[in-house]
Amino acid sequence: MKKLAIVLAAGLGKRMKSKLPKVLHPVCGKPMVAHVLQAVREAGCERAVVVIGRGAPEVRAALGDAAEYALQPEPLGTGHAVMQAEPLLAGEDGVTLVVCGDTPLITARTIEAMFDLHRESGAAATVLTAHVDDPAGYGRVVRSAAGTVERIVEDKDCGPEERAIREINAGAYCFDTRRLFAALKNLTADNAQGEYYLTDVIGILRREGGTVAAYRTPDPDEIEGVNDRAALARAQRLMRRRILLGHMANGVTVVDPDHTYIDADVKIGEDTVIYPGTHLRGGTVIGRDCAIGPGCDLADTTVGDGTTVRYTVAEGAVIGSECNVGPFAYLRPGTRIGDHVRVGDFVEIKNSVVGDHSKVPHLSYIGDATVGSRVNIGCGVITANYDGHNKFRTEIGDGAFIGSNANLVAPVKIGRDAYVVAGSTITHDVGEGDVAIARERQVNKPGYAEKLRARALSKKNQAISQSNNNR
Ligand code: UD1
Ligand code: CA
Repeated sequence: MKKLAIVLAAGLGKRMKSKLPKVLHPVCGKPMVAHVLQAVREAGCERAVVVIGRGAPEVRAALGDAAEYALQPEPLGTGHAVMQAEPLLAGEDGVTLVVCGDTPLITARTIEAMFDLHRESGAAATVLTAHVDDPAGYGRVVRSAAGTVERIVEDKDCGPEERAIREINAGAYCFDTRRLFAALKNLTADNAQGEYYLTDVIGILRREGGTVAAYRTPDPDEIEGVNDRAALARAQRLMRRRILLGHMANGVTVVDPDHTYIDADVKIGEDTVIYPGTHLRGGTVIGRDCAIGPGCDLADTTVGDGTTVRYTVAEGAVIGSECNVGPFAYLRPGTRIGDHVRVGDFVEIKNSVVGDHSKVPHLSYIGDATVGSRVNIGCGVITANYDGHNKFRTEIGDGAFIGSNANLVAPVKIGRDAYVVAGSTITHDVGEGDVAIARERQVNKPGYAEKLRARALSKKNQAISQSNNNR
């Protein structure tokens, strides 16, 4: 049985009140429709056609060649949307799954179960349904006295009796491909919303004498359809839970799942501990035996094994193994940190490489620099990399020692094992093994402190008598 899929993603999403197409709203860092597409693929669908309309270029750009596309020029309803996929799938037989792009929590397991039931039952269509406490907004599944599925009635078209039905249409269906496209030809828009409802196909297939199976999901959370921002927040909470449970099952300790935020595609190694207040975003990859958090926000960042990162913001950074980062470090794009490196408090690093066993322990800005291995960067050292128009690089050789509060004015090179004296402003290259001092020489005046104090006191008294005279 060849499995195909149509993902509906052309609706207006009016209830979101957003300029972003609804299906592109992210849930745990990934567009809703991308979650759906992933489940469809994992369930073994060989082809997936996404029906796009509103925001078509954006949806296409977000999914790329993960799908084929059919354009629905006007959103005339879910049935009309499916019709747009016909030219692409006309030659196919087998089974077509239709699923909405706004149900991000649907799982591959559920889709597989639907396909299985569909095959075993020999039905013309199989509908995914759920029993919910509050069916408002969903289509209701109307069954005969004998319990067979007869039709689906949209919320807005329900009479009082139908409105009370608590079995709802989740918006996912398996159809015999040929019968689907044949039945769609009989749709009308004669209903409360003046739309071509896909749900009417169920009644049409029944009237033709086909049977309709229902796969009732044991987990109604899976079918949450996101139509507004409140539902988006609910879906996000459920997805977040699911992601965290997945990591825990893989041997990651999540100290407080209520205050930990991990995007869908993040990877974490065994025996890593995630502390509260941590956000791991995008394509972040964390190794084994790490301690991440509390208070970290890492986006598209890679961390090796055995590394500790606390109260740190990082974006597009690579951190090696056995490092210690933070508290209060800021690692910007292009930062590449080796192994056994210490990056301490109030340190910002951008577009720079820091070699193995080096230390940047406190209050530094390292920008556009190549720092070798075993380098010590003293407290308060900065690279002056920008002249207001251009950025320049700083190179620091292996084993160099940069004294506290030095300014390294780029472009500049510090040789291997060189020594820059504290407080220096370095504007010229320093050779291998050299010592550079670039600061005023200190002058001490023996016993002068007493004189200085007396002078200060008499100045103060003068000022007081002056103001008294002026009264
Ligand atoms: C739909 C179902 C309803 C079900 C619910 C489950 C219909 C008529 N109703 O209602 O029975 O309980 O889903 O979540 O099918 N879309 C298009 N083109 C259109 C209209 C919609 O591509 O012209 C897409 C939307 O982008 C969305 C999906 O179809 O991804 C569902 O559309 P939506 O308007 O959200 O339908 P619901 O009212 O939720
Ligand atoms: Ca919906």
